[in-house]
Amino acid sequence: MTRSHTIAILPGDGIGPEVVSCALEVLDAAETRYGFTTTRTEYAAGANHYLETGELFTEVQDQLRDADAILFGSMGDPRVTPGILERGFILEMRQRFQQAANVRPVRLYPGVPTPIAGLTPERCELVIVRENTEGAYVGQGSTVHAGTPNAVAMQESLNTRAGIERVVDFSFRLALGRRKKLTLCHKTNILVAAGQLWQEVVADVAQRYPEVETDYVHVDAMCFHLPLTPERFDVVVTDNLFGDIITDLGAVIQGGLGVATSANLNLDATAPSMFEAIHGSAPDIAGKGWANPSGAILSLALMLGHLGEGDAAQAIEAATVEVLGSLPALAGADMGATTAELGTRIADIVRSGRANTELVPDSLLATLAALPASR
Ligand code: NAI
Ligand code: MG
Repeated sequence: MTRSHTIAILPGDGIGPEVVSCALEVLDAAETRYGFTTTRTEYAAGANHYLETGELFTEVQDQLRDADAILFGSMGDPRVTPGILERGFILEMRQRFQQAANVRPVRLYPGVPTPIAGLTPERCELVIVRENTEGAYVGQGSTVHAGTPNAVAMQESLNTRAGIERVVDFSFRLALGRRKKLTLCHKTNILVAAGQLWQEVVADVAQRYPEVETDYVHVDAMCFHLPLTPERFDVVVTDNLFGDIITDLGAVIQGGLGVATSANLNLDATAPSMFEAIHGSAPDIAGKGWANPSGAILSLALMLGHLGEGDAAQAIEAATVEVLGSLPALAGADMGATTAELGTRIADIVRSGRANTELVPDSLLATLAALPASR
């Protein structure tokens, strides 16, 4: 029987629809080559929908529950007050669907230029796992005397033992299948209350995984370790805010925001997981054909790995790496091809079956789904 998957597609705003359309072309190619099918439903969510209807789309989110996975572009538009779409949709989705782990591979692929002098692919192969539903992103806060010289703003950070434990346990399992090292990244010397809870949980969960070595790095120190000695890290687990920040740094090291990818994983199979490039809607280049679609295409690979289509995932990753390695620049007018042309090049390689999987012999994107259950 043909394998079939139900996928919800959310192109979103700005370059979101441009890069998602490339990912869908690659998905067509993968289906032809690897013998599976998908039922796709595309949803209008984002700035245009909001400006036309006043709806944030939260209303329809329940329809997405039936999907096996969600492929997401990006959201955010200069015409809409910052925060309305980002918080009202993206954060709402991650929380409502309990997508507890935001998994962001930081991998320098062979042939892809990095701004870090002397960095080689062997030295840069780590995964950052960002807690995705709590911390400073719960949206709790208040302002008193707004708009006056006495304005006071308070923004809270929520940290629960259960929330930390599920993402820490996931990170240990991930490390177990890799180089068996887990680093906690936090700011325990200043944010002592939250920091202590994170440290306690890591120490407790570590007892279930004695094979995994644990380590700790402050988030400020992470900003020099990550670019200079990324080989120090295998799996890094961190809170929502720190993870948001250090993964943009990780993206720069691996070739830019256009290349980096992510999965928002629901860890208890109560709702679909969501897959997206880590970049935003990039209004500065939207409509120009200058966006690099690799991050979105690699998010498709992550999604297919998650759905059990490991061969297709690995082929897509390899085809993307091959095309990335052939480009004169990784973004903008100097890329040597438009967004759509890059999508077609990658799709053609996948469809022809000549993707060189030796470029990514150990495809994380293909294997992420096969994690053993919690101990
Ligand atoms: P951004 O990631 O959209 O862009 C930052 C810079 O990177 C820009 O100069 C952009 O041109 C460039 N860039 C981004 N993706 C690229 C790609 N694929 N190829 C080539 N260049 C690329 O971040 P920014 O400008 O801070 O935010 C723009 C909007 O996106 C805001 O509304 C923001 O809130 C939203 N946003 C949404 C996210 C999401 O949907 N998950 C994530 C981050 C930001
Ligand atoms: Mg971010």
